[in-house]
Order: sequence, then C-alpha cells, then structure tokens
Amino acid sequence: MADVLSPESGRFAALVARFAEHAHRAGYGLVITPVVEDYGLFTRVGESTDIVRKEMYDFETKGGDHVALRPEGTAPVMRAYLEHRPTTPWKAWYVAPNFRYEQPQAGRYRLHHQVGAEAIGSDDPDLDVEVIALIARFYEDVGLRTTRLRLNSLGDATCRPAYREQLIAFLRERSDQLCGEHKERFEDNPLRVLDCKKLPCIEATKEAPHQVDALCVPCTEHFARVKDGLDALGIAYTLQPRLVRGLDYYTRTTFEFESGALQESQAQVAIGGGGRYDGLAAALGGSPTPGIGFGAGVERILLACDAEGVLPAPEHHPQLDVFVIDTTGGDAARDTVDALRRAGIAADRSFDDRSFKAQMKQALRSGARYAVTIEEERTELRTLIEKGEPEVLDRDPSTLVEHVRKRLSE
Ligand code: HAM
Repeated sequence: MADVLSPESGRFAALVARFAEHAHRAGYGLVITPVVEDYGLFTRVGESTDIVRKEMYDFETKGGDHVALRPEGTAPVMRAYLEHRPTTPWKAWYVAPNFRYEQPQAGRYRLHHQVGAEAIGSDDPDLDVEVIALIARFYEDVGLRTTRLRLNSLGDATCRPAYREQLIAFLRERSDQLCGEHKERFEDNPLRVLDCKKLPCIEATKEAPHQVDALCVPCTEHFARVKDGLDALGIAYTLQPRLVRGLDYYTRTTFEFESGALQESQAQVAIGGGGRYDGLAAALGGSPTPGIGFGAGVERILLACDAEGVLPAPEHHPQLDVFVIDTTGGDAARDTVDALRRAGIAADRSFDDRSFKAQMKQALRSGARYAVTIEEERTELRTLIEKGEPEVLDRDPSTLVEHVRKRLSE
C-alpha cells in the first residue's frame, strides 16, 4: 500500500478530474459508498474467485459483524441501488480505494484505486456500447495511444449452463494435464481454467469450446448489436473468446482494456475492465435488474502514461501564482495572502520570520510565477520564472491584488 504525495498526487487528481468530466458529460452522477461492507455481499457475488476466496481484508467488528474492506466497486454500487431504488437507468460513477491481499508486483498492489461507472436498469446493447465508449474516449483524451480493447460475450442464464457442462466434460477428459490448482478444482468454476496463466492449463485448453460459439439467440443478437455499435463509433476491438474476467457476476458482454506500452515493462497490462452483470441484483436478493459497468485502475493508468510519456506529473503541485515575501514582521504577509486567495489567486508565504534570502529561496523552490516582496522601504512584484524588472506595488492589499491580477491575466 503506497502513499501518494504531491506533486504525483496532483497527477492522480488530474486524472480523476478528467474521468469525472467524461462521466458527467455522459450523464453519470457520483456515487460514494462505504469502504466497509458486509462480508456476505462479496461472498454472494464471487464465491469461486480469488478476489473473494483468498484476497479479502475481512474482520469482525466490536459488535460481532463480519465485514470486509471493499475489494471491488460493483457489488457495493448494486447494493446501494437495491437499497435506494433510484430511477432507472441509474448511471453512477465512482473513484474509490479497493483492497486485495495480492502478491504485490509492478502494477499490482494491495491497495489500488479505481475510477469506474455502472449503468443499472437496462439491458439495451447500446448501453454496453455507451459504457465501453466512455472508458475508451477517456483513455484517448488522456493521450494513451497503445490501448487495446478485448471483447467477449459470456452468455446468460439460458445458454451458460449448457456451455458450462460442455466445458466441464472437456476438462474432465484432460484433468490430469491441468495445473496443480485446477486439477482438483475446476468443476465449481470451469471458466476460470480458460483464464489460467499456467502453461499446463494453456496447453490443455487449446481446443476448449468457447462460450461465444454457444450463445443462445438473444445473446447472439445482443452481442452483434454491441459489435455493430463499436464499429459505428470507430472503437477497435479484438474478439477474445477466452476472456473470462476475475469476478463471477459477469453475463453477456465482457471486456478488458490493455496497455500495449506496459507489456514491454512486464507490469500488469489490464488498465480497465468490466461487463454486464444481469444476474447480480437477483444474486443479492433484489428483483432481477440488468446492469453494466467497468472499473479502471488509476495506478495502472498512470504507469501506462509513464510508459507512453503522456500526462507527466506536474513539477509543482499545487501550482502557485504568487509567493509573498515579508521582512516587516509578518502582518503584511498574513493580510496579503488572505486578500490574494480571496481574489482567487493561489498564494503562499513563508513563516518563522526568516531572512529575505531564505524566503526568496523558498519562493523560487515553490514554482510560483511571481513574488510579492514586502520590505520596510518598498513593496515590489518580481517575476520568478521569466526575466523582468521589479514593479513597485502599493502595499494596500486591495490595490495590490488588482495589480497582481492584471499581471497574471497578461
Ligand atoms: P477488475 O478487473 O478486478 O474488475 O479491476 C478493474 C481494474 O482495476 C483492472 O483492470 C486494473 O486496472 C485495476 N486493478 C485491479 N486489481 C488491481 C491491483 N491489485 N493493483 C492495481 N490495479 C488493480 C473489477 O473490479 C470490476 N468491479 C469492474 C467492473 C465494474 N465490472 C463491472 N463494473
């Protein structure tokens, strides 16, 4: 789990702000859910997944409740939907910390943050297209150019059971060829074997049947409309029949975005993923309600930005307009920064009555464009970044602020 300090946190905040802009532009409102949920919420949606079985931070509260730190954002949002019943389609976005007790490595952390969006209450395939377009346009806008979209359909309650049986039969014949973990344990979640990164499983499942070839008619039509929509919007994708995803609730459309730039540096390449979860509401005890969404890892997107040389961290954050230097005792600095800040100008100062030289050093380090220097004999405005002669300033805060404001707008 990492701390994020300024100026890097400035980049983090900028990325989230950019995402918020895209989400708001598409009619998604911010949802904030608690970081702690009832443990059962997650076991009900992911009993056979690593995220839930092995990676949860769960504990008992003083009152005896079994709770867990959120490992992912979709189940909490669906819980909130079922509790509050907003009108549908309910379009919500979030930025939230998630906790998974994983083996940490480049791009995989025990605490990560996701920006994400969920659209609940419609099974219209055009909503799938909207959701995928939302995240794709966001990556584009951030400047990422090597992003690849992998797309699949996992079917629904009509066609999944038959496919599942077909896959189990296929795996049973080859169970001795599977990796250690899946040899014993493939019947409760056979699809997961297709997602296994170990060589024995990859080899043994080369000829495995794919869900996408065994879809029922409504799922086939749904998927066709999604693909047509993506084509119409010029959003490129590759069909990935083995794409399973790490959570149990997915139905129909599933997708993942990978960064081509990260592959080379051996980091985790998935910078976002999601899909439909038309059975999730019912699994949580609500009335059947379809939904689709995605989550995208902020830390991984920033790694991808580093790899592609886009969205660099600012040199200074927050970016100051003015640094106030006061050698007259501090009253003037106190009043001037307040006046500047009230006028919307970013201003800082030094404390502890330091020498002019020490304060100037701090001003230069701060990245501010201007210094206001207040000395017994004169008050001046000096440029810190460009070259320029000092200008004499009126010491009266409101006149001073007007003068500074004029300079800043030039
Ligand atoms: P997920 O694929 O588990 O899906 O996570 C979404 C994204 O979060 C990943 O693509 C990755 O960018 C980032 N991520 C996941 N785990 C880590 C980690 N340990 N360290 C750093 N980044 C990580 C979900 O969580 C679903 N709730 C997404 C969703 C929303 N599906 C439907 N709606």
